[in-house]
Formats: sequence, structure tokens, C-alpha cells
Amino acid sequence: MTQALNHETRAYTGIVLERIKHLPPGGKMGDLPPHLQHESFVRTGAKKTGGPNMRLLRLEHDKPALTVTAYIFNKFVHPQEDRYLTPREAASLQDFPVDYAFMGTQGQVHQQIGNAVPVKLGKAIATEVANYFVKQGQTGVIKIASYFCGAGGLDLGFEQASTDTIQFKTCFSTDIEEPVEKTIRKNRSEWNFQRADIRALDPEQVSQGMGCNPDVIIGGPPCQPFSVAGKQKAIHDPLGVLYRDYIQHIDYLKPKMVVMENVYGLAQVKAANMVAEIYQSFADIGYAVTHCELMAADYGTPQKRRRLFFVAARDLDGFRFPEPTHSEYENLLGLPRYVGAGEILATLPPARLKP
Ligand SMILES: C[S@@+](CC[C@H](N)C(=O)[O-])C[C@H]1O[C@@H](n2cnc3c(N)ncnc32)[C@H](O)[C@@H]1O
Repeated sequence: MTQALNHETRAYTGIVLERIKHLPPGGKMGDLPPHLQHESFVRTGAKKTGGPNMRLLRLEHDKPALTVTAYIFNKFVHPQEDRYLTPREAASLQDFPVDYAFMGTQGQVHQQIGNAVPVKLGKAIATEVANYFVKQGQTGVIKIASYFCGAGGLDLGFEQASTDTIQFKTCFSTDIEEPVEKTIRKNRSEWNFQRADIRALDPEQVSQGMGCNPDVIIGGPPCQPFSVAGKQKAIHDPLGVLYRDYIQHIDYLKPKMVVMENVYGLAQVKAANMVAEIYQSFADIGYAVTHCELMAADYGTPQKRRRLFFVAARDLDGFRFPEPTHSEYENLLGLPRYVGAGEILATLPPARLKP
């Protein structure tokens, strides 16, 4: 097999290697013999909980991984080999093609991979967007403007959902980060990437860059912690300033559909009024909205990752969220079982050992 990009590991030694070696598939720090557990793994209280037992986890061959973030790289252990995952392996758990290169320092690469929408989840949504356009009588090229595009997981999902009837084409992409720019230019120069802070980006630049207005706008503003906006402002504007700029772009460019992901961390969904605020802000610019929490593993991603999606259009009749194609358990519908992390990792070439 040939070698893959972003696929280097190192030889682990000492207590780290001992811990990894003693970890059974699916095992966590708490499953290790006590003398190997990290000192921060302290079980306290009557229920003996409190230790960060997720700090180490060996993936399993036939079960999806837990959520891939930028912080799994000294945590997720390969299902068979006694080492942590390489960036390439994490990217495979996010469905990225093996030849897709991630640019930047190690930390920047980890960030781009951890931030991405799994490609198959993006593809599942995009397939329903395609069905919507067909029902509306529009076929052929559907032009996309991609905001907060990161490494481009959501865009790749749209690209892969293209058929003879509908061809999704990212004609403009943007993000604030330089390493993201390098990644997109390296892999998809045709996505017409322009690096910008959305707060300083004029929507007219987007339509000029595309030569027309987009049919679809995709991408979700990252959640801004309340502290960023300042407490006073946060009370009056819980969705944050990036979201307001995004809405202004949508209002100016008037796409037929908007697919917005990851507006805020799911932990913050407790603030149910944020959902109402999103509906209101779209209503204010003449769009109807629907939303749904989707699980990536339900669409063939070898990873349990939940994401909240909002889809907006002037007329949403004919749009529905995708039905699962995979199932965690045996099921009456005859759906195949969730794809295992180890099944996908086994398809990769061997990792290179760092000198
Ligand atoms: C969750 S990531 C997007 C992931 C992407 N949808 C994918 O599937 O790979 C959010 C992105 O928003 C970008 N971002 C954060 N603040 C921004 C700003 N002020 N203007 C433009 N982009 C910004 C970040 O650099 C990051 O790449």
C-alpha cells in the first residue's frame, strides 16, 4: 500500500505505553489496573465518580468511535495497535477521502479535523437538498457559497451528493483562518476561497466573487461564548455577532436555501429560546426554518457525533430531513449496522513512524 498524508505516529514508551498495552477494546482509564491509572483519575464521593475516565479510550473494530474533537489525539487509541490515532485516522472517522491533505501545524490540523462536519452526514443532508430542488423543478448546477467552511467537510458532503440530475458546485468559500485557506487551496482550488473575518466581509464581494448570487448558502457560525460578546450584550443578543452578520449576508444574497450547522454547542441547547430566536431572525428576513438533531453514525459515519442542523428557505414545502441509513441495533427495517471505527481504519495504509 502507498503512504498516506497526515499519517505519522511515534513510538510510545514508559507508562504511556504500559497504559495503552493494558487497554482492552472499548476500555477506558478506569479499566486499567490501579497502578497504571493517571493520578488525576480520582474517584471520589459515595458513587465513586469524578475521575476523567474518558481520558483514554481504545476504539473498537465493529463499533463507531465517540465524537472526534481536536482533543482526541492523546486519548483515542488504535483498535489493534498500541498507539494513539494519527490525524489521517481521525480524518477517516470524519469520512474525509484518504488523499485530502490537511495543512498547518499539528495543532491546526487537529483543529480542522475535529471541527468538521462528517462528510457522510453532509452528504445525507445534501441529498435531501437535491431532492428539494428537483421537486421545485430546478435541476443542473446548484451554486453554493460556503461560510465558516473550515476544512470543508460539509462542502465535500455536497460534492459527493451530486448526481446526473443535480450538480452541487462550491463557487465561493470563506473562513477566517490561514491554515484553513491553505487546506482548501491545496485540495479544492476551484472552491474560490477568500480568507475573511465575516464581520469585515461585504456580501457584495461574495456575489462579485461568484459572478452571481448563490442558490444555497451553507455553514454555521461557531458558537460565541457569552463572555466574548460581554455580559450586557449577551443578554440582548444571545446568538452573537457572527450569527447576525451571517443573517445579513443571507438577507443580501437571498439564496433559495440555507443549511446551517452547529450554531451553538448542544450543551447550551438548554437555552431553548435560542432556537426561537433563530426562527425569528429568519422570519424577519422572509425565510421559513426547520431544524433537527442528526446522528452521524445513522448515515454511515464510523462515529457517534450529534449535530444540530437548521434548514431555511422561503418555502420549505418538499424538504425533509434524511432518514437513517444505518442502525445501532438489529432492526425490522433491515438497515445495516453502524460502521465500526476499526473497519474504516483497517482500510488505511500503515502509519509512518516519526524519526
Ligand atoms: C465548526 S468550523 C466549520 C467546519 C466546517 N463546516 C466543516 O465541515 O469542515 C467553524 C469555522 O468558523 C471559522 N470562523 C470563526 N470565526 C470566524 C469569523 N469571525 N469569520 C469567519 N470565519 C470564522 C473558524 O475558523 C472555523 O473554521
